[in-house]
Amino acid sequence: MLSEKELEGISEQFKKEIEKIDSEKTLNEIFNRYLGKKGEITCFFGLIKDLPPKDKQKFGAKLNTLKKDFLEILEKESEKIKEKFNSEKLEKESFDVSAPGHKITKGHLHPVTLVRREVEQIFRGMGFESIEGPEVETEWYNFDSLNVPKDHPARDMWDTFWIKDNNGQKNLLRTHTSPVQVRYMEKHLPPIKIIVPGRAYRHEATDASHEFQFHQVEGLMIDENINVANLKAILLNFFRKFFKKDVEIRLRPSFFPFTEPSFEIDISCMVCEGKGCSACKKTGWVELGGAGIVHPNVLKASGLNPKLWQGFAFGMGMDRLVMMKYKINHIKWFNSSDLRFLKQF
Ligand code: DAH
Repeated sequence: MLSEKELEGISEQFKKEIEKIDSEKTLNEIFNRYLGKKGEITCFFGLIKDLPPKDKQKFGAKLNTLKKDFLEILEKESEKIKEKFNSEKLEKESFDVSAPGHKITKGHLHPVTLVRREVEQIFRGMGFESIEGPEVETEWYNFDSLNVPKDHPARDMWDTFWIKDNNGQKNLLRTHTSPVQVRYMEKHLPPIKIIVPGRAYRHEATDASHEFQFHQVEGLMIDENINVANLKAILLNFFRKFFKKDVEIRLRPSFFPFTEPSFEIDISCMVCEGKGCSACKKTGWVELGGAGIVHPNVLKASGLNPKLWQGFAFGMGMDRLVMMKYKINHIKWFNSSDLRFLKQF
């Protein structure tokens, strides 16, 4: 029956349900329950025609007001839901512009590269150009042109990795940077002042200071009158700049097929400053490479006349320079990719 009490009851009930609205879905459910085709208010409108005439107008007006109020309330709720949805969306999409960004970790140079660059810079200061040569070398450049004939016992000093023959030419991984001397002299007339930093390979057992792949720096200075005094002066100047200390050097008589006379280059030990310690095996000296006056046969093999030109050459272990400079006790660290080691540079 349509009565005032009934309408009040519905109004109360509606207000309670409104509080439960939390989404578009519950809003639609409530709309349908009251104002939909079969909604309670809609049904009440259907009952008006059965009322006595005096009540028709009264309830008609009341129902209209109720319907209008309900619609208004639902409209407001719908707005609220939209607002909530938008702000949630915004919150999801937004980000804190003041938050610290992801740090881009920058790489840095390997200690061998750092030393290579420093060596190049010091020699450049003395007028030397830095040259590169191939790591896969021919037997001719690696041995024969350097006055190391086939079957000569001196070849045993540089046991190496041979590579498949190429048109009868034997190839190998170069055992030293010395072949670049010949390659350069073939194409350039003296005066020549070059250094050759680069990798070299040897088929040998590894220990604290030997790897099958390592780095050397070769030096070559050729002119009309270059002699051992020049060699010593250049080396001394280099070591003093490189170690930033008053290093002493010692040229010890030795043998290399590509130089005559030949020397081992020793420097005073950086660790004990020449007094004698375990790093220098108590001698006070550390061997860093070989040197000498370029053999006439090497000049000839390069197309230069030994009666017109002479000069010195040297070859140093670059890894050894790095180890002395940074006091590194084992060559294995260089290729270990161990970040605890690498991050120190
Ligand atoms: N190439 C030699 C080696 O690896 C080092 C060397 C000695 C280089 C004497 C030279 C030199 O240029 O004159 O054992």
